[in-house]
Amino acid sequence: MSKEDPNPSEWQTKKHALRYLSRAHKLPHRTEAENVLLDQIPHGVQRVLDLGTGDGRLLSLVLDRHSSVKEAVALDFSEPMLAKASIRYQEDKRVRIVRHDFSQPLPEDLGCFDAIVSSLAIHHLTHERKRQLYLEVFRHLNSFGVFCNFEHVSSPTENLHRKFFLAIGQLPEKEDPSNKLLDVETQLQWLREIGFVDVDCFWKWLEIAVIAGFKP
Ligand SMILES: C[S@@+](CC[C@H](N)C(=O)[O-])C[C@H]1O[C@@H](n2cnc3c(N)ncnc32)[C@H](O)[C@@H]1O
Repeated sequence: MSKEDPNPSEWQTKKHALRYLSRAHKLPHRTEAENVLLDQIPHGVQRVLDLGTGDGRLLSLVLDRHSSVKEAVALDFSEPMLAKASIRYQEDKRVRIVRHDFSQPLPEDLGCFDAIVSSLAIHHLTHERKRQLYLEVFRHLNSFGVFCNFEHVSSPTENLHRKFFLAIGQLPEKEDPSNKLLDVETQLQWLREIGFVDVDCFWKWLEIAVIAGFKP
């Protein structure tokens, strides 16, 4: 954890990060959602950015599916997560690990990407910052690039919210306090307003969804 940070997120603690990683594979339908996300990435992509990469799980799937990738950036602000990602990618010269808090603007020097992906990370931002980040994502995409976000979204009713938590084996009362869930429709609308095309929710099960859009 950074000593300079007066308000560290729970994600920057080893306990929280490792607890998530020990359960990540147990999320129902996860593989299905990840495959739908991978299907949206065009053939031949060369530069890929993973926002909130954690231990690099999603980026690894992208690299496995797309041998065309020449350079990938794994971005996160959690030292324990980045330590895990560094171990995963120590032999892979294509991957650069970047420590950055995406509640702040994305560094300009990241450059532009053919695909920007994210998994279960952006919902930790305020809604205002989510929208701003989507705009920055658009600016950091090459033409015909894609943004794919496998995300934890809000339920339309409290009953469905409880149903989701029970389905994943957790009590709603124990929900991660850093969650700032937002409905799918609002996020799709934002992407369209920003200029993305072919925007859609490509997959959804209760509170997890894959949303994506392309830069013309
Ligand atoms: C639920 S984990 C998901 C990790 C990984 N994407 C996966 O699917 O397994 C959320 C990730 O988002 C990162 N994260 C949350 N807020 C962030 C922020 N403001 N800036 C950068 N990363 C953030 C956390 O450190 C954590 O690695």
